[in-house]
Amino acid sequence: MALIELQKVRKAFGPKVVYESLDLAIERGEAVTVIGGSGMGKSVMLKMLIGLLSVDAGEIRFDGKAIQNAPQKELGAVRRRIGMLFQGAALFDSLDVHGNVAYPLLEHGRPTREEVDARVAECLEDVGLPGIERMRVAELSGGMKKRVGLARAIAMRPEVLLYDEPTTGLDPIAVAHIVDLIVELNDRYDVTTIVVTHDMPAAFRVSDRIAMIDRGHVIFDGTPDEIRQSADPRVRDFIEGNAPETDDIQTLLRYGG
Ligand SMILES: Nc1ncnc2c1ncn2[C@@H]1O[C@H](COP(=O)(O)OP(=O)(O)OP(=O)(O)O)[C@@H](O)[C@H]1O
Ligand SMILES: [Mg+2]
Repeated sequence: MALIELQKVRKAFGPKVVYESLDLAIERGEAVTVIGGSGMGKSVMLKMLIGLLSVDAGEIRFDGKAIQNAPQKELGAVRRRIGMLFQGAALFDSLDVHGNVAYPLLEHGRPTREEVDARVAECLEDVGLPGIERMRVAELSGGMKKRVGLARAIAMRPEVLLYDEPTTGLDPIAVAHIVDLIVELNDRYDVTTIVVTHDMPAAFRVSDRIAMIDRGHVIFDGTPDEIRQSADPRVRDFIEGNAPETDDIQTLLRYGG
């Protein structure tokens, strides 16, 4: 049984239909990348998975249980098992780094101050930013914000990590760092990973499987090798339009072309 299953999911905002009937299944431990053009509904999909947005019809199951219309308590239990790095990191400006990373711990339990401090320190270390607890959000670079967002996402030691455009707007070094982290977390902690991106080099590096959404449907679902060989013009246009600059040899080397 798949860990996460979307079945015939429909989602519209007023007259705007984002998904007519979306089907997608993610197995435990897999690293799946969802690609698709801007406005195709990638962020909406992730938000539906954690119950931040409702579905109009169809079903989303997590570990066999339907999450739509689940009582608040059950939804809370599911959310505890899923960490999400939001598009733009979505840190709280009013809190320092410690406050941001500690947030889910305090939201979901009653840990002691020592437990919180230890976990925050551990998570910051995991993302390569040890000791920055007292920095303010305004002092962080874009890449650091994403990594602090990731530290917050892993604070509950989730089984599933969702990443919304983790590399967008970052310089190549910060991109490489985040991509390495995604791979490492997937391997080391054995988490199930869903990455939403239009960064094809990143997609090729992190994915066991790539699904492309276009106009409300999954139009491709296969391995990185299979997508490279796809003859579908929509797929070709997308991956060629989002490939690295061919003269950027560093990027090609880093991602293995
Ligand atoms: N809360 C909302 N209310 C109304 N419309 C929304 C809402 N959230 C998303 N939409 C619409 O749903 C569509 C899909 O949005 P979504 O943010 O999922 O796109 P995306 O694929 O993540 O795009 P991008 O690559 O630009 O992040 C868009 O047309 C957007 O305007
Ligand atoms: Mg988005």
